[in-house]
Amino acid sequence: MHIHRLEKIWLTFGMAMLVVFLLVLGLSAFTMGMDTPNSKHHAHSIDPAKVSETPPFDKPVLTPTGDGEYEAVMVAYAFGYSPETLEVPAGSTVHFAVTSSDVVHGFEIPGTNVNMMIVPGEANHVSHTFDKPGEYLILCNEYCGIGHQMMYTKLVVK
Ligand code: CUA
Repeated sequence: MHIHRLEKIWLTFGMAMLVVFLLVLGLSAFTMGMDTPNSKHHAHSIDPAKVSETPPFDKPVLTPTGDGEYEAVMVAYAFGYSPETLEVPAGSTVHFAVTSSDVVHGFEIPGTNVNMMIVPGEANHVSHTFDKPGEYLILCNEYCGIGHQMMYTKLVVK
């Protein structure tokens, strides 16, 4: 009788452990399954082939966000940048968010500290305050193909 009861306890315990084990196994498989595709599709990831349908890059535009600040949503492609010409008043701070719809490009504004790599699949961010009026070149400094030398656009500071 006594032994029988003990056996029952152990059996119950064993079953409980099995359930816990299966739960942990299932849970880790679940989170791993979530993780692998997730690392490719986390908040900052964009399918380069679908840039034209991925907000905000579906509508590249320069938008005033108030207080002399601007947000420039841009797409780099072989071989140019969209939108083509940007214009802001002197003293403006521009927050650039740039992605590529094809290969790796550069995003350099000579005479400023703006110099970043535009990695396809990512929203690449940089900000700069343009105090001096003038025409600023935005150019590609990563070799990206035959039209690389001609890949640039302009930011006009008035
Ligand atoms: Cu784009 Cu070089």
